[in-house]
Amino acid sequence: MVVASAPGKCILFGEHAVVYGHPAVAVAINARMTVSVREGVDNWSIDGMHYVEAKHPHLTYLHNRLWEGDALAIQVNSEIFGAAGLGSSAALSSAYAAALLELANRDSAIGQLPLIAECAHLAEASAQSGRASPTDSSTSALGGCVLISDVREEDADWQYTRELQVAGETRRWEVHRIDLPATFAEASIVIGFTGRPGPTGEMVAKVADMLESNPDRMEDIDRIGTVTRAGVTALRLGNIEAVGIAMDECHRLLRGIGVSDEGLDRLVEAARPYAYGAKMTGAGGGGCMLALTTDARRCAEAIELAGGRTLISPLGVEGVRIEQS
Ligand code: MEV
Repeated sequence: MVVASAPGKCILFGEHAVVYGHPAVAVAINARMTVSVREGVDNWSIDGMHYVEAKHPHLTYLHNRLWEGDALAIQVNSEIFGAAGLGSSAALSSAYAAALLELANRDSAIGQLPLIAECAHLAEASAQSGRASPTDSSTSALGGCVLISDVREEDADWQYTRELQVAGETRRWEVHRIDLPATFAEASIVIGFTGRPGPTGEMVAKVADMLESNPDRMEDIDRIGTVTRAGVTALRLGNIEAVGIAMDECHRLLRGIGVSDEGLDRLVEAARPYAYGAKMTGAGGGGCMLALTTDARRCAEAIELAGGRTLISPLGVEGVRIEQS
C-alpha cells in the first residue's frame, strides 16, 4: 500500500485573472488531503464502495494516464473544506498522482514534482471544461508560496512552464517558488468558510461568458493583474501592510466582476479590524475568504461570530509527500 498527502491552497492575489495569463500568488495551507492506494484487489473501489468513473473525473483521468496495473482500492481522507476554493480537488489530484507514481516505480514520486503538478493540472482542466490555471495544482504539489506568471520572473525561483490548449489557443504559465521574508513567519492566514460551496467550474464559466458578451470588462481582469504585481512586490519586500492593501483591492475588483457574494463580503468585513487585509479566495460564489493577520485568534473569533467556520494556517507548508510506501 502507498499513502500520499498534499496540502490545500489559498490564493493571496490573482484568482480568475490568472486564467487569462495574469500572475497569481498562492500559499499551501496546513490542511491536507491523504490518499492511499492498495493493489491486489478484484475490483476498483473508493472508500469501500464500487468505483464509478464518471463520479471521479480527476481520479479517472489520472489513473488512465499513470497506471497500467490492475484494480486498486482507493481511500481518501480530507482535512480541507470541500468545494470551498481551497484547492481540495487539486490536492486530491496531486496526492493521487504521487501515490500512483510511487506504486508504479517505488521511491521515485517526489523526484517528479513537475510531472505530478502537470498531471494534476490536466486533471483539473479536464474537469473544468479546459479552463484551469496551474495555480492550485502547482501550489499543492510544490508547497510553500507559489507565483504563477506569464513571464519568467527574475527575483523568483523558476520551476517549470505549464501549457494548456484553451478554445484553440495555447495558454502558457511560468511557475515559480517565492521565499517569503521573515516578517511573514510571524503572520498567519485565517480562512473563513461561508459553509456554502463555491462551484469553481461554474464561476470560471461565468467570468468567461461575461467577457464574451462584454469584452470591455477585460479591463477589470487587467486591473487584478496590476494589483497582483503590486502585491508580489510587497511580499518580496516583507511589507505586510502593503500586502494587506493589495488583498483588499483585489477583493473590491473581484466583487466588481461578480464573483463575491453577500456571505463572503460579510466575513471579509468582520475580519478587517483584526487583519492587514482580507478578501475572498478561489473562484468565489460561496466558498472561502482569507485574512492576513498577526492576531489570528481574535480574527478567527470575529469571522466565527459572523457565521464562518475558520482554519488558521501559516503562509506556506510542505507540498505533496509520501506518507507510507
Ligand atoms: C480557483 O482556485 C482559481 C481560479 O482562478 C481558477 C483557476 O485558476 O483555474 C478561479
